[in-house]
Amino acid sequence: MADFKVKDINLAPEGESLIHWASKHMPVLNQIKDRFQEEKPLTEVRIGACLHVTKETGVLMRTLTAGGADVALCASNPLSTQDPVAAALAEKGIDIYAWRGETTEEYYWCLNKVIDHKPHITIDDGADLVGTIHSQRKEALERVKGGTEETTTGVMRLRAMERAGELRYPIMAVNDAYTKYLFDNRYGTGQSTLDGIVRATNILLAGKNFVICGYGWCGRGLAHRAKGMGANVIITEVDPTRALEAVMEGFQVMPIRKASERGDIFVTATGNLNVVRKEHMLKMKDGAILANTGHFNVEISIPDLEGLSTSKRTVKPNVREYSLQDGRRLYLLADGRLVNLAAAEGHPSEVMDMSFANQALCIEYLVEKEEQAPKVHSVPQGIDQQVATLKLKAMNREIDSLTEEQKRYLKSWEAGTV
Ligand SMILES: NC(=O)c1ccc[n+]([C@@H]2O[C@H](COP(=O)([O-])OP(=O)(O)OC[C@H]3O[C@@H](n4cnc5c(N)ncnc54)[C@H](O)[C@@H]3O)[C@@H](O)[C@H]2O)c1
Repeated sequence: MADFKVKDINLAPEGESLIHWASKHMPVLNQIKDRFQEEKPLTEVRIGACLHVTKETGVLMRTLTAGGADVALCASNPLSTQDPVAAALAEKGIDIYAWRGETTEEYYWCLNKVIDHKPHITIDDGADLVGTIHSQRKEALERVKGGTEETTTGVMRLRAMERAGELRYPIMAVNDAYTKYLFDNRYGTGQSTLDGIVRATNILLAGKNFVICGYGWCGRGLAHRAKGMGANVIITEVDPTRALEAVMEGFQVMPIRKASERGDIFVTATGNLNVVRKEHMLKMKDGAILANTGHFNVEISIPDLEGLSTSKRTVKPNVREYSLQDGRRLYLLADGRLVNLAAAEGHPSEVMDMSFANQALCIEYLVEKEEQAPKVHSVPQGIDQQVATLKLKAMNREIDSLTEEQKRYLKSWEAGTV
């Protein structure tokens, strides 16, 4: 029987059905699961995972246990747990500590329960697990062979640890695999962020001024999808190259100072802090909607919003109205936490298929490989290409392959203008 703390174990049948639905749309991960079932590459491996507890994560957990692993799981965000999924995982023997609406204290309690599990491998989404092991639970370090990191912000934090000479075990940067960020961050975040905004507010996007802060992989995915829904997209950036890309894609580009006056909806996707703050809120239109899809809830300054307002109330689930001193009202979605996970279901299963296929294969790689340097490592090209190949196959798409002559040509320098 698993050790667990979830909202309600009786939700397990509903969670089971959700995991089954996700699994139907995750053919690559299923193939890996079938192989793991036969080969058992993770026998006697204890895995500690800190991930959004979604139906897709449910499929990943079952892939790892099929490979023989003993897994403990907690949530990587206090608002992203799907309670029925947590119940279904607990019932099937995963040690899980997660429920929607954890306080910060409860969040870290859950994380420490996962560390109590004495993991050999860590899976992180945002680097809170690795950070806690390195700062407060150093005794766990001697057992950990390696880890993986799912998101941009986590990779950034881990690289900072590496630069400071603090990182004590190797981490595979799953986020940076082509078959992860080009699809998950772009199409996954693009679609599910709109999904979260629409589910929370049910507003019409057509004709609205839709401000996106950050034209990275998430921001550009969102920009193209919002444009497709008829919104007038405005981009704010700090990187000149990315700003130029946005200009040449036909989006309006301007500083947040100017965009503040125009926006009907604001979405942050930067991985940075205080991107939307007091001076911007003071200029916003009455009724403006604020949402975040970056990893942490620091991109919109909630202390500034609280400081400017005379009262607040919840108008519907995931929509909080702040009344400002001058009578204007601003609406914050999902407490400024990732709106796609807190107000919707996170990324579609089809993209998580690729992200989590990378996770499963990287964990197998870490287990099989000799000791690696305590650095942030790239996902091996072979894994990335394997995931793309399997995905194309599952989608029934064929591509060409190089002839021998073409291979030789591409490696040569002698042939030039003819
Ligand atoms: N919601 C989700 O499910 C989900 C999925 C993947 C990634 N993420 C998170 O989303 C965030 C963005 O990820 P990404 O992969 O797009 O990163 P990225 O590095 O590709 O893009 C971030 C962009 O924000 C820009 N930026 C930084 N500070 C800014 C500021 N003050 N104003 C305007 N622009 C600014 C950067 O120049 C960069 O172009 C990260 O926190 C990441 O962890 C969330």
